[in-house]
Amino acid sequence: MKGIILAGGLATRLRPLTYVTNKHLLPIYDKPMIYYPIQAMKKAGITDVLISTSPDHAGDFAELLKDGSEFGLKFYYSIQSNPKGGIANAIGLAENYARGEKILVILGDNIFGFNLKDDVEEFKKKKGGALIYGVRITEGDLRQYGIIEIDEKNNVISIEEKPETPKSNIVQIGIYMYDERVFDFIKKLKPSKRGELEITDLNNLYLKEGQLSCKIIDWWIDAGTSHDELLRANNLVYEKIKNYQL
Ligand code: G1P
Repeated sequence: MKGIILAGGLATRLRPLTYVTNKHLLPIYDKPMIYYPIQAMKKAGITDVLISTSPDHAGDFAELLKDGSEFGLKFYYSIQSNPKGGIANAIGLAENYARGEKILVILGDNIFGFNLKDDVEEFKKKKGGALIYGVRITEGDLRQYGIIEIDEKNNVISIEEKPETPKSNIVQIGIYMYDERVFDFIKKLKPSKRGELEITDLNNLYLKEGQLSCKIIDWWIDAGTSHDELLRANNLVYEKIKNYQL
C-alpha cells in the first residue's frame, strides 16, 4: 500500500503566516506540521510516501524532507499546479505513482495519535472499497468540515461537505484509504461550488456503491482551519508529548 500526504493549497485562512511559508511547514510545538502525518505513515508501516505540494513550495519540502531516508522512509514528490484544484484533484495526480496499489491518504495539516497499522493491514486484505475516519466534536464550527451521518452500526448514511445544517457532530477527518479504483472515480468528479474536486464527492461515489466504511477515533485536530485551531494544536501536542501520549 502506498502513502500520500497532501501539502498543497493556499492556506488563506492562516494568513499572514502563510504568505511566504507553506502551512504544512509551520511549527506545531517542536516540529514542522508535516512531521506528524509523516510519523503516522511510518507507524502505519507504510514505506513509500508521496508528498503532494504546490510549485512555489516544492523546493522547501525537498530541502527539509529530502529523500525520506532520515525518517526511514522513501519520499516522492508531486506538484499540484492548480492550488485550488481540491483534495481529490491532488490524489488523482498520484495514479502513476500508485501503480495499481491501494493508497492511504493523510492531509498534511491533520494531527492525531491513532495508530493506523492494524487498519492498514486489514484494508490490504480487503477486496475493495474505501475507509474514512470520523471524530465527534463538541466545540468549534461544524460547518467548516465534511459531516458524516452514521447509524448505530457505524454504517454511513450520508456525508455532506460544509453543510449549513449539520446532520451530526461527526467530522470527516483527513485520513482516507482507497482501493485501486479511486483514480477512475476521481475522473468522474465535477468541481463543486467552490471550484474544487471534493473529497466528499469522491467518498459519496463509494457510498453509492455500498463500499464505504467509517471508523470513529478519539481525538484529532485540523491545524489548518484557523489561527485558533493552530494554537490549540500546539498546546494539545505539547500536552500529549509531555504525557508520553504522542
Ligand atoms: C477538508 C475536507 C473536509 C474535511 C476536512 C478535514 O476540508 O473537504 O471534508 O472535514 O478537510 O480536515 P478543507 O480543509 O478543504 O476545508
